[in-house]
Amino acid sequence: MKFAVLGAAAALPAAVAYNLPRQGPASSASSVPAAASGSSSTAAGVPGYPAGVSVASSFSALPSVSWSLPSTNPTALPLSDIVPGTITTQPQIGATTTFPAGTAPTDIPNAPPMPNWALLSPANYPPLDKPPPTDSPEVQQWIQDVQNSGIQIPNLEPTQPGGCPANPQFATDQSRCWWTCGGCVRDTDITTCPDKFTWGLTYDDGPALYTPNLLEYLDQNNLKSTMFVVGSRVISYPALLQEEYMAGHQICVHTWSHPSLTTLTNEEIIAEFGWSKKVIKDVLGVTPLYWRPPYGDIDDRVRAIGQAMGMEPVIWTRLSPLATFDTNDYNIAGGTVSVTQVLQNWQDIMGNVSSINTGFIVLEHDLFAQTVDLATGYILPAALAFQPKLDIKPVVECLNKPMQDAYLETNDNSTNPLPTGSNISPTFTSGAPGSAQASGNTTGGASTPQKTGGASSAASPLLAVGTAAAALLVACSVLL
Ligand SMILES: *[C@@H]1O[C@H](CO)[C@@H](O)[C@H](O)[C@H]1NC(C)=O
Ligand SMILES: *[C@@H]1O[C@H](CO)[C@@H](O)[C@H](O)[C@H]1NC(C)=O
Ligand SMILES: *[C@@H]1O[C@H](CO)[C@@H](O)[C@H](O)[C@H]1NC(C)=O
Ligand SMILES: [Zn+2]
Repeated sequence: MKFAVLGAAAALPAAVAYNLPRQGPASSASSVPAAASGSSSTAAGVPGYPAGVSVASSFSALPSVSWSLPSTNPTALPLSDIVPGTITTQPQIGATTTFPAGTAPTDIPNAPPMPNWALLSPANYPPLDKPPPTDSPEVQQWIQDVQNSGIQIPNLEPTQPGGCPANPQFATDQSRCWWTCGGCVRDTDITTCPDKFTWGLTYDDGPALYTPNLLEYLDQNNLKSTMFVVGSRVISYPALLQEEYMAGHQICVHTWSHPSLTTLTNEEIIAEFGWSKKVIKDVLGVTPLYWRPPYGDIDDRVRAIGQAMGMEPVIWTRLSPLATFDTNDYNIAGGTVSVTQVLQNWQDIMGNVSSINTGFIVLEHDLFAQTVDLATGYILPAALAFQPKLDIKPVVECLNKPMQDAYLETNDNSTNPLPTGSNISPTFTSGAPGSAQASGNTTGGASTPQKTGGASSAASPLLAVGTAAAALLVACSVLL
């Protein structure tokens, strides 16, 4: 196995890592931020995260890990000031620019004028941060649309909350292709950028309080990103969403209330997608064609519903069970991962970038002060100093498509077929017998997630590391 352990916490699938307190190594700390000891927090009050998600009830010692990066920002917040908790005391920039109704981005051909964000009425949407009811006329319409799409939704039972340990049978059911348990992917999943040394930059769970600080840094360094936004946060910060979009960042769906989608019914999943698409369209005038599953929690049922609703899934790069391109930055606020561990995770990711034949996608967040502080102070400055120079761009552009192809209304239909439509025949089936989608199989290094067949397999990290992969190239009858 070429790729070794990334660290206990980072190795766990996101859904599990977030649901279990204390994923960080439990040895004693050599450095404990003074402000952290003895304080306490739960995730219940954190926008974008469901109540009841357990985090450490008090911050205790986390080991300080050694790290080294090629560069940091001279104005970075010192690491000793990046401490656990839902901090809101650091200087915020605030939404700097607001746009009059009717403004449209000039760099996206055919972009419709943006609506007036100030007219957005939360009363017209479901309650924030809860799975929306499924009996509303809107959701009923979207359910009908999914039925009319021609995409067959596999008849898979929802998973129980608690990830792989709570679902031993589903975790090993390879036909379900559940990414959370084993990293199974289908051809339609975007997990890398095709070109080596290209980083499809992404941030999840915003827009939020410190998003403007991130936007300012990105702007100063002429970087464009992909933003996976939570619908409930769009209600909270509509002007900020417009600012992101106008600044040239790609906006994508990240559900309404940030649940583990495989635990929901089909109708609940449709409601999560539908309201997120709607609120983005209501604020920007465009509808995203890409989405990311919270916690990476996707299986064939969730894939099919996303497809039927006109969206392609973007996850993040995973070379092996122990080398996942997840900075684990979101666990700092809850106190389960140390700041230095996140920097070491980033160091490992950058170390692995040279070894693979594709580009890459990393999981990072703009929800918390700490995640933004690390991005602007450490992670992005290190990436900008990386040699050879990285090509950093939004995911849609790393796929060699123009920004206009990120949205339904502006998509160039002559060069880029829309990801779904009623013209697609119902060919979705839930996996083939003997399919080698390697869920949870750690035998002999054969557990690396694998694209199925076709051109994409040539770009597979598994082939890149020279493991015999022919046996895994079994088609999984997903013809979308
Ligand atoms: C690649 O990542 C693994 C952890 O996932 C790490 O142990 C290893 O050192 C990295 N490789 C390099 C060359 O940095
Ligand atoms: C592409 O097709 C979609 C769906 O029919 C349509 O809404 C959109 O306007 C088209 N794109 C362009 C640039 O005309
Ligand atoms: C795991 O993979 C190995 C090697 O490819 C194979 O021999 C074995 O049967 C697989 N086990 C399971 C449970 O799929
Ligand atoms: Zn998220």
